[in-house]
Amino acid sequence: MDHFRIGVLTSGADCPGSNAVIRATVASAHTLGWEVLGFIDGYEGLLFPKNYKPLTLENTEGITALGGTILGTTSKGHFVTESDSGEKIQIPQRIIDEAKKTVLELGLQALICIGGDKTLRAAEQLFENGVPVVGVPKTIDNDLPATAWTFGFDSAVHCVVDALDRLRTTAASHKRVMVLQVMGRHSGWIALYGGFAGGADVILIPEIPFTYESLCAHVKKRMSSGAASTLIVVGEEAAPKGAEVSTVRSVTTGEVHVGGIGVRVAQEIMERTELETRTVVLGHLQRGGAPSMTDRILGIRFGVGAVQLIQEKKFGYMVSYLNYQTGAVTIKEAIDQVKYVPPDCQVVMTAKAVGISFGV
Ligand code: F6P
Repeated sequence: MDHFRIGVLTSGADCPGSNAVIRATVASAHTLGWEVLGFIDGYEGLLFPKNYKPLTLENTEGITALGGTILGTTSKGHFVTESDSGEKIQIPQRIIDEAKKTVLELGLQALICIGGDKTLRAAEQLFENGVPVVGVPKTIDNDLPATAWTFGFDSAVHCVVDALDRLRTTAASHKRVMVLQVMGRHSGWIALYGGFAGGADVILIPEIPFTYESLCAHVKKRMSSGAASTLIVVGEEAAPKGAEVSTVRSVTTGEVHVGGIGVRVAQEIMERTELETRTVVLGHLQRGGAPSMTDRILGIRFGVGAVQLIQEKKFGYMVSYLNYQTGAVTIKEAIDQVKYVPPDCQVVMTAKAVGISFGV
């Protein structure tokens, strides 16, 4: 293949493993003699006055072990593809045209877009407007269909497990109930895997609406039969049957965010059982810090996979991971759907088999 120059960017929420993708992209492009430009703060770097830097073997050395993204990222700005209420929105044509102009002016033969559903939706719109894009799925939530696993998920789950290990000893010392609220948006993968691996007694996920009656009966029974503690993991969008997802309004920006379910669950348990209950919101600890071994490996495989897609001129495709192999699916296929936890999947059934309650 002739001399190539490609671009790479990270967009949307940061995620451990992003730097592994960047490093692998640079290293495998280097073996092909290609040049790589990294755009700063996601798609924003494509807009006037253009914000990018050349990525080399030297300036990406050792970044695989770092959390976050060396390129910076944003979930806001000109390339937002979803409103606060979840409505899908199109990026204005003048923004798409400006981004395309940058790609042409810099002589980029391809643009690697690393991100979750919203980033990929923007990538698809660029592709439909003639920009040769390749997608790399990135989210701790693991909620993208067409890929069994996304990097960042494993690191987030490790964080949940670590938190549960710590909460167990303090909870047991005080004979308390602990509620741990975790991320994951509409899907309960982080809550399910984190709770399962960390030995939670109850896991509440958005896909299985719970009732306070069942939840409290389970907690009361455990504690009255001599359990030292009860650990409850609740996904941030889990909700009681028939209830809306709990939200909170930011006092500084006025924006409405998902949140509050951990506190509500703890309050209900205290009122209904009189057991001493505390809440921990794990928050952005799940996104920060160094990527796990699994996420580094997946990130490296995705970076190399993205370069291979460019070699094969498979633009409009996203790297995927299915049956232990990286492959490719069209970005179109990968967006506009959420990969939910099937309520009767094997992990849920196995969790039930060892006595974990889902609050139903
Ligand atoms: O999508 C990743 C994620 O971490 C979600 O699990 C969480 O709800 C959201 O991002 C938080 O985003 P922000 O950084 O805007 O608080």
